[in-house]
This record gives sequence, structure tokens and C-alpha cells, in this order.
Amino acid sequence: MEQRIIVTGATGSMGAAAVESLAGRGIPVLMACRNMAKAAKVRDGIIGRIPGADIEIRELDLASMDSVRRFAEGIEKGSVSALFNNAGVISKGYRITADGLENTFSVNYFGPWLLTRLLLPKLPDDARIVNMVSLTTRFVPLDEQMLRPSEKEFRQLGTYARAKRALLSFSMELARRCPSLRVNVADPGIVASDMIDLGHWYDPLADVLFKPFCRRPESGVQPALRALASDKRNRCFIGRSDKEIPQRYVDPALDARIWAATEKLISL
Ligand SMILES: NC(=O)c1ccc[n+]([C@@H]2O[C@H](COP(=O)([O-])OP(=O)(O)OC[C@H]3O[C@@H](n4cnc5c(N)ncnc54)[C@H](OP(=O)(O)O)[C@@H]3O)[C@@H](O)[C@H]2O)c1
Repeated sequence: MEQRIIVTGATGSMGAAAVESLAGRGIPVLMACRNMAKAAKVRDGIIGRIPGADIEIRELDLASMDSVRRFAEGIEKGSVSALFNNAGVISKGYRITADGLENTFSVNYFGPWLLTRLLLPKLPDDARIVNMVSLTTRFVPLDEQMLRPSEKEFRQLGTYARAKRALLSFSMELARRCPSLRVNVADPGIVASDMIDLGHWYDPLADVLFKPFCRRPESGVQPALRALASDKRNRCFIGRSDKEIPQRYVDPALDARIWAATEKLISL
């Protein structure tokens, strides 16, 4: 059976760049996307440039745990070799999903958490799992209470940073619990993508002054692509190399508490 790599958020800047790079190396890819029309356009564009590319698209909305479950159910055991949890969002306002979760946390943390947990029995023991994190995590603390921010606690960037910090915690705990898995995180740096438009009046100005100095998506996604090809585990791929996850994030007791709190909120 052909083994594919699942790329979430494959319609986005770095997701599409990842799909194109993988497909260009002859690797079959499953694009997991919430907008199927946009996904078809991205896939058709890539196949136009890389005739014969093996790219499938399936629906996945990480703001809906039902959608995550449906997607995972549709994956045949042994058909996938790696999972790239790339999708992410910085919600412009406070929004609660049908599951009662804050939207930014759902897309960046709870969705990837559930997806990964449900796919584990279908993946090889040494599967590669790459989670996209962000340097914003440096500036925030994390505890169980922060997984479900109230409207008063919601901050556009602060909530995003905490959700990414929770994803980092999950990555380290998963690596601890499943020592044969090749779980790594990737940090793309600051990349010129739709994500960094925060809906402020000065965004057009920032586009002119700031975006030219950001990385291109094709460059930002390189650390993740290297992680997807690596035999290392529990490393942070950043820039042109990889390093240990910085000590300030290493807290096994916290990771175990976050894992348990998440299991209480999201039944498998
Ligand atoms: N850009 C940066 O500077 C930067 C820095 C650090 C980390 N990152 C991380 O890198 C990853 C890729 O970001 P990017 O810059 O390529 O952003 P992007 O172009 O905005 O792409 C985000 C992707 O996530 C998808 N997505 C959003 N909400 C979703 C949902 N509910 N369900 C499923 N998919 C959903 C989007 O789908 P649609 O196309 O349907 O909207 C899109 O495909 C993200 O995890 C981001 O947090 C980015």
C-alpha cells in the first residue's frame, strides 16, 4: 500500500509549499483542508506544474471535533507514514466552536491533538509527526486553566501563543509516551502569509514596510520538511538546523497535567 504524508492546512502559504515540495520528490500527499474548492485549486495548480503528482484532498475542519473524527475514521490503517500538523489560525475575535472550545485553541491545539491521537493506531510505530510551533510561545506561560480562555482573557496574539505552547507541550509528552515515534516540532520564523494580517487598520502599511523582510513560505516551511525526512525525535527544527527543545519549555509534570486536562475535555 502506498504510504502518504498528511498535510493539514494544505491550502495555506506554507501548507501548499510543503505539498508542492513533497509531491516534487514523488511522495504521495493527502491534503487535509477545510475548504475543498480552494484545496482543489491548489492541487490542480501543483499537478499542472508537476504532472503525475500523487495528491489527494479530503475535508478536515479543526474547529470541529466531529470533522476531525470523520477525517480520522476515513484513514485506512497502514496507508499513512507521516502527519504534518501545519494548519493554524490567529482568530481576530473571541469565538466559541460547537464543541465549546475557543476557536484559536481548537484549530492550533485541540484539533491537532485529537487528530494525532486518533491516527496513532493507524500509523506505523516509528511514524513521523511534525507539529508547527511559533516563536510567540516564548512570551507566555501555560497551565490547564488557560486551555479554555474566557472572553475577558482572550487576546489575539496571546491566545494564539498559548495554543502553540500547548501544542509544544503535547509534542514533548507524546515523544515521552511513544518513544518509537519520531515526533518533532518546527518553527518557521516569521513568514509573509495571510496569517500575519491581524485585521488592524495598519495592516496595509505593515504589508509594505514589514512583509518584504519576512521569509517566503517556501523558505519558512523548510525546517518542517527537514523534520518530515528526519530520523531524529523530540527536536525543534528551526532555520537550517535542529536543536534540543529549549530548557525553559521542558516541564514533564506540566505536560502530563495538560495531557490529562485535554483528555477530560476531548473524549477520544
Ligand atoms: N506565518 C508565520 O509567520 C508563522 C510563524 C510561526 C508559525 N506559523 C505557523 O505555521 C503554520 C502555517 O501558517 P501559514 O503562515 O502558512 O498560514 P496561512 O497561510 O494562513 O495558512 C493556514 C492554513 O490553516 C488552515 N486553517 C485555518 N483554520 C482551519 C480550520 N478550522 N481547519 C482546518 N484548517 C484550517 C487554513 O485554511 P484556509 O485556507 O481554508 O483558510 C490554511 O490552509 C500555522 O500553524 C502557523 O501558526 C506561522
